[in-house]
Amino acid sequence: MNKRTFLKNASLLGLGSITALPALGRITSAAAAMSPADGSDDDFWLTVRNSYTLKPDYINLENGYYCIQPRQILDAYKKHIDEVNLQGAYYLRTVQFDNKYAAAAKLAKLTGCPPEELIITRNTTESLDMIIGGLDWKPGDEAVMAHQDYGAMLDMFKQVARRYGVVNKFVSVPADPQTDEEIVEVYANAITPRTRLLMVCHMINITGHILPIRKICDMAHSKGVQVMVDGAHALAHIQFSIPDLHCDYYGSSLHKWLSVPIGAGLLYVRKEHISKVWPVFAEEGRRQDDILRLNHTGTHPPATDLTVSDAIDHYYSIGAARKEERLRYLQHYWTSKVRHLPHIKLYSPSQPARTCAIANVGVKGMKPAALAEKLLKQYRIYTVAIDNEAAGVHGCRITPNVYTTTAELDELVKALSEIRS
Ligand SMILES: Cc1ncc(COP(=O)(O)O)c(C=O)c1O
Repeated sequence: MNKRTFLKNASLLGLGSITALPALGRITSAAAAMSPADGSDDDFWLTVRNSYTLKPDYINLENGYYCIQPRQILDAYKKHIDEVNLQGAYYLRTVQFDNKYAAAAKLAKLTGCPPEELIITRNTTESLDMIIGGLDWKPGDEAVMAHQDYGAMLDMFKQVARRYGVVNKFVSVPADPQTDEEIVEVYANAITPRTRLLMVCHMINITGHILPIRKICDMAHSKGVQVMVDGAHALAHIQFSIPDLHCDYYGSSLHKWLSVPIGAGLLYVRKEHISKVWPVFAEEGRRQDDILRLNHTGTHPPATDLTVSDAIDHYYSIGAARKEERLRYLQHYWTSKVRHLPHIKLYSPSQPARTCAIANVGVKGMKPAALAEKLLKQYRIYTVAIDNEAAGVHGCRITPNVYTTTAELDELVKALSEIRS
């Protein structure tokens, strides 16, 4: 039996199906009735909110770590778990990888990439650390990164510095730039003839700052430097296509804004670089320029990968433009009410296009941990404290999600107006 016939038969037997999402009827028809980019239509967003089961004990404004799944995605996930459990090893030995590659192809379409340049990994850490650790570094090679980058990647750069003699150069991203060029210049100034790789966040996790990636990539390429983008927070949050960014490598976590169950990420590698990367786990027997060479992980929960497809369907049903508008609307809703208060400090850029859902706020003279505790204990608002001296950020990260209401943000505004050091 050839592969295509087998897959067709497998599908008839219910083995090959990768979409378990029940009809997204109510969300889809409500979405059809409104303008494509309306962030303030509370009726529509109430329909979306009602598809989540939310804990009544607190207002969850810490969706930056992980975006819980709405019932449609959660139900699909549970169905996949049941199906894999029913079929056992038979599933793993038959359609497991075909289904994973089909989900990756759908993800490639969502991100505008050729499917030969993208794989589903377990998270951003796996994606980016594979690149940092997998390049053929020579002693004295330089890498550029920012104090505002994520700790796990910075640790991996520290390791390659110790292991291969790579020199790490740090920049500090301006907190409230007025032009893209201000940021590009900071990175450009750190590049020398020894620089090989520049790491940059698409969206800085502690402040929500969206960086001008394409301009940074074009500048770096003009100096012969490759660019690796940390897109942990950007995918399914703001709209973009990976090829439009002109980067060489891109990593993201699908359990963040795409609402895939915990344990899925993506790695994009530009075709011409694939053959030069050493994978974390070896997989011989493939062509050197086959990206699947970088995709070996050992046994991994297949239901997580299967749910990628359902989560993409759900994202489409809400609408990418609509979701981005709503998230930006929610952030501006509360930041515009507290930015002028003398005892408040915002650590996120003031220009609207430079942020979306995420922002960071501090109370002057108060430790972020104390603010987070007060918000939770006194006001039932869950956030995360960020006290990062190197990055110059000392506040609580506030991250609403599509289910957040303006009434919940009014509670935050009230709390921030009242709390003093
Ligand atoms: C900017 C950034 N990069 C990388 C990561 C790592 O993501 P993961 O833990 O899913 O690998 C995070 C996690 O929050 C992040 O915020």
